[in-house]
Amino acid sequence: MDRIRIRGGAQLKGSIRVSGSKNASLPLMVASLLTDQPLTLKNVPRLADIDTMIKLLEQHGTEVSCAPGENGHSRSTTLKLTTRDIASTTAPYDIVRKMRASVLVLGPLVARCGEARVSLPGGCAIGTRPVDLHIAGLQAMGATIELDGGYIVARAPNGLRGAKYVFPKVSVGATENLLMAACLAKGVTTLDNAAREPEITDLAECLAAMGANITGIGTETLRIEGVDRLRPAEHSVIPDRIETGTYAMAVAVTAGDVELINGRIDLLDSAVAKLREAGIEFTQTASGFRVARCNGALHGVDVMTEPYPGFPTDLQAQFMALMTRGEGASMITETIFENRFMHVPELTRMGANINIHGASAMVRGVSKLRGAEVMATDLRASVSLAIAALSATGDTVLHRVYHLDRGYERLEEKLAACGADIERVK
Ligand code: UD1
Repeated sequence: MDRIRIRGGAQLKGSIRVSGSKNASLPLMVASLLTDQPLTLKNVPRLADIDTMIKLLEQHGTEVSCAPGENGHSRSTTLKLTTRDIASTTAPYDIVRKMRASVLVLGPLVARCGEARVSLPGGCAIGTRPVDLHIAGLQAMGATIELDGGYIVARAPNGLRGAKYVFPKVSVGATENLLMAACLAKGVTTLDNAAREPEITDLAECLAAMGANITGIGTETLRIEGVDRLRPAEHSVIPDRIETGTYAMAVAVTAGDVELINGRIDLLDSAVAKLREAGIEFTQTASGFRVARCNGALHGVDVMTEPYPGFPTDLQAQFMALMTRGEGASMITETIFENRFMHVPELTRMGANINIHGASAMVRGVSKLRGAEVMATDLRASVSLAIAALSATGDTVLHRVYHLDRGYERLEEKLAACGADIERVK
């Protein structure tokens, strides 16, 4: 199994090109199940999760073809997906257990075929992560749902019908699932208290380009008037705001100065505000923005994760790694997932001073971290260890790098190009 070795101490300098968003690409790819017409997606990052999604869609009957890579990519970042016929309405356990986003095929399959059989994803490293809201929304749209042998079996033999559904809790995945399903339902669907993440806006804009009738895009109330069929479309995926924020924190921890090409500050307002409070400078440039910590101190700042536009849970671990080197204390509160502090024991092994009290972690900045052998437990936790390693003395060896490969494209290449001492050990 691959490992990544990092020797801390180098200040990051130069530029990093931000990839397309993983969390936007996955639902966008699933949208191809809604139509027999081609959907062309550009700026798709080439990550393990994207390959898993290709595998899942292929067994549902999607043909996936790739055009040559853009922006110096060896692999294609343009995918053409065509689902002339649905070959299978079952999403098998073997694929779903690897990637929770697989559950997004539930709504589109039942909307197009009147039935779907999707394995329940089960628990995962960052909490129990139920899918009850996905199910309740589809029931409101007229589907009957049963559980059979660990599978969600949804049926709507006469098609889904428009409905009003108020999410009792903001959910990104459930909003995406129901938004896609509603595009082919009969009549009008209103989704209230919908998640407003930029990835949902990206999905809604692509669906609109495919001929879906959606209003309220970017707000907490989405109104969808169902149509009989969708048409071919081409869509370019938004840049990955989590990758952007991750590199901003890597630059900050090394007191570096880097331009994040294609990075969009407007997708990261709450995180940028917190980083500015901590002493990091952001300047807009023609092709992205520059992030720098030139004038010394890194201040301890409190953060609480919230649905968008609040501080993203997907940047919590990275922010904590940064705060381990801050001056003073930082209280970090996780409100989205109940078990998302698995990076804490690993950071502690590197010399961080962190105490967990329920959903909050009190981080007291230390003057020095020391490299160690550490274990990645999930995607964002693993990259937080890489951030800590960049500012530690000595070598850090990161194990279970496959977590990192799910969401960061060529991380070691991007960091090495800015002067980091980092290598992948096969
Ligand atoms: C969440 C994050 C998203 C992040 C992704 C991967 C939020 C609001 N969502 O999206 O930003 O990119 O994880 O880390 O920050 N829930 C239920 N029932 C459901 C669905 C969700 O109770 O049917 C709960 C979850 O347990 C969680 C909360 O709602 O506490 C938000 O979950 P949701 O947004 O659906 O999770 P993801 O779509 O995975």
